[in-house]
Amino acid sequence: METRGAAPSYPALVGFGLIANAGEEVAKRLRCRRCAIISDTNIAPLLAERVKQSLTSSGFQSTFITMPAGEKSKTLEQAGAICDQMIAAGLDRQSFVIGLGGGVIGDISGFVAAIFHRGILHVQIPTTLLAMVDSSIGGKTGVNTGAGKNLIGAVHHPSLVIDDLDVLKTLPQREFNQGFAEIIKHAIIADAEMFDALKDVDLKNLAPLVHRNIEIKSKIVMKDERDRTGERALLNFGHTVGHAIERAGDYHKFLHGEAVSLGIVAACNVSMKRAGLPWDQRNVIVDLLQKFRLPTRLPPNFPREKIFEALPFDKKFESGEVRFIVTPRIGSAHLSSDVTMEDIREAVDQL
Ligand SMILES: NC(=O)c1ccc[n+]([C@@H]2O[C@H](COP(=O)([O-])OP(=O)(O)OC[C@H]3O[C@@H](n4cnc5c(N)ncnc54)[C@H](O)[C@@H]3O)[C@@H](O)[C@H]2O)c1
Ligand SMILES: [Zn+2]
Repeated sequence: METRGAAPSYPALVGFGLIANAGEEVAKRLRCRRCAIISDTNIAPLLAERVKQSLTSSGFQSTFITMPAGEKSKTLEQAGAICDQMIAAGLDRQSFVIGLGGGVIGDISGFVAAIFHRGILHVQIPTTLLAMVDSSIGGKTGVNTGAGKNLIGAVHHPSLVIDDLDVLKTLPQREFNQGFAEIIKHAIIADAEMFDALKDVDLKNLAPLVHRNIEIKSKIVMKDERDRTGERALLNFGHTVGHAIERAGDYHKFLHGEAVSLGIVAACNVSMKRAGLPWDQRNVIVDLLQKFRLPTRLPPNFPREKIFEALPFDKKFESGEVRFIVTPRIGSAHLSSDVTMEDIREAVDQL
């Protein structure tokens, strides 16, 4: 199954067993013959050989670069070290980068592709559900700094994305489930039909589902690639509170998707007050999040006060400067400038 990624348009292949043909697929589209495959210490032992073999049999020369798994490795220093290894391996302006991994690898390998020789081509082979339906689409790449996440980066779209659903079989269950937080978010903001279909999803119908999520995100990104018109902000549904919960939990209490799940519930609570979201629709959303074992209540001992400290915008909220994404009904969302800090406090208190 092939779908189009965001502007500028590029193919995203979705299906089973695609890694075996990765070399062939890349060869159809890219003329360069040398590449770096960037991966992490968890994924490399599982997939590196297969990817490398497929590339070699299609005539590619590849250099494998592995970095320690985890968000902590998504740094400027690590990006620099990868560039140094690419230079040492003799890669040049004609080479390209393959990111083989989850969102961390997608972000850092994309950033390396954006800066190496002022920009070379990037191929993504996402290995987490979250990376397939979210981070590999839209062209945002980057690294974290001590001051915060994703503060340094570039918009650099991949030339090809290969979503081989077989790789998800080794993904830990919690990581798999967190991908559904973003899928449910997409359904709430853009597709009521997909929302209903999520009630009985399994591996067999995962391909059309991933395909549809790529379409939803791409369509929004194409309208507002650089976050200027507010359209792309719709993708932040559930994320204002979600990010604050992630920070309040020091980034280890909840995975991103789990924090977003709580953020979605908070955004629904706000939406009931400010956008007329019916109570029963809010409950259907909570049920669906729970179906994927995503949290919808904060644990009793969670430092709730820290959530408010982690919302960096309280002044702006008071003056109505920060806009919050609300949903009036499943399948649609819009920016609201009526939401106050008090609304958010109430919504979080209900978690
Ligand atoms: N660029 C964007 O638009 C965008 C959007 C959303 C998130 N992100 C970024 O994505 C990152 C999160 O991505 P993630 O959730 O994929 O995390 P991740 O890349 O850290 O992967 C999660 C864990 O699963 C392991 N793993 C990955 N694939 C595996 C597989 N197939 N089998 C076994 N283990 C596997 C990884 O080694 C890691 O330990 C964050 O850095 C976030 O900022 C970027
Ligand atoms: Zn997210």
